[in-house]
Amino acid sequence: MSGQQTAVITGAAGMLGSALMKLAPAAVRTVGVDIADGDLSTDEGIDGALGPYPPSLHERSYGGRDQPDVVIHCAGYTDVDGATSEPELAQRHNALATEKVAVFCAERGAKLIYISTDYVFDGTRGSPYSEEDAPNPINAYGRSKLAGERAAQQIAADCLIVRTQWMFGPGGRNFVAAIIDHARHGGEVGGVVDEIGSPTYTRDMAGALWELVAEPISGIIHLTNSGYCSRAELARAALDVAGLSGVPITEISGADWDSPTRRPAFSVLENRRWAALGHAPLRPWQKAVAEYVKSYLQ
Ligand SMILES: NC(=O)c1ccc[n+]([C@@H]2O[C@H](COP(=O)([O-])OP(=O)(O)OC[C@H]3O[C@@H](n4cnc5c(N)ncnc54)[C@H](OP(=O)(O)O)[C@@H]3O)[C@@H](O)[C@H]2O)c1
Repeated sequence: MSGQQTAVITGAAGMLGSALMKLAPAAVRTVGVDIADGDLSTDEGIDGALGPYPPSLHERSYGGRDQPDVVIHCAGYTDVDGATSEPELAQRHNALATEKVAVFCAERGAKLIYISTDYVFDGTRGSPYSEEDAPNPINAYGRSKLAGERAAQQIAADCLIVRTQWMFGPGGRNFVAAIIDHARHGGEVGGVVDEIGSPTYTRDMAGALWELVAEPISGIIHLTNSGYCSRAELARAALDVAGLSGVPITEISGADWDSPTRRPAFSVLENRRWAALGHAPLRPWQKAVAEYVKSYLQ
């Protein structure tokens, strides 16, 4: 970005949105909105959170202009099991809300960056997925996020879809924090061995996203910390850093885990385009987990 630019962060109270707010470059003016400002799946919510179109006297001012330069759309329905039991709710918050945010961006000429997920893939390929691979979601959450991707691409043609996975960080419930809390309260820790992904720190993701904001690219890009592991290996790494090495992890299969949702077995995202753009890989997930766990326990 050159000069003073304005970026709207939706889902600004959530895990990734709060990291983006915190790590915004000095040259970017951020406007953070979340559900308390308006439900983005409704026209009233869009007007309340982002401002109506055509612009009125009462709307938000984006640095004295009618539109932001970019909208990083992090808001979403992220409860994977909740999406399985209430798929229409996931569609509303992930697909319909994205459609409305995309219309806002198209009307204002703002760039849309939509945060999506590895769950658009079925996880059967057995090797990392590149941006060219065909999605085939196997659960309601994945279907709702893919519908969001398609709405974004149809309405805001130059949008950028950034797929990530297994995020952890301050500002929201996440697997790493949940495992540590559970173990500290004496609970038995179960770790799924046949679900493989790349744990990704919101702090690293936010820094990389701000780099992407400065680049005139569209389409799809995959972005995660480097390396991959099973849920059981992630749990072990988190507990070790937390000084809980003595806590055993019962290794289980995803099929035996008490969840109503089928999850992709191997949904690692190859960061092929990120590398092709000349960026260094994000640090290995183990280093990111160690940094987060230390700060979580302080
Ligand atoms: N977490 C992961 O591991 C992961 C992995 C891959 C991709 N992603 C994607 O990355 C994005 C950010 O994830 P996150 O974990 O940071 O999310 P998060 O912590 O759950 O935050 C999302 C925020 O969006 C809000 N929200 C939901 N529906 C909304 C709506 N219709 N209008 C306005 N606000 C709404 C939520 O409010 P409520 O809490 O009140 O619902 C919440 O504050 C999401 O799009 C997610 O699908 C996440």
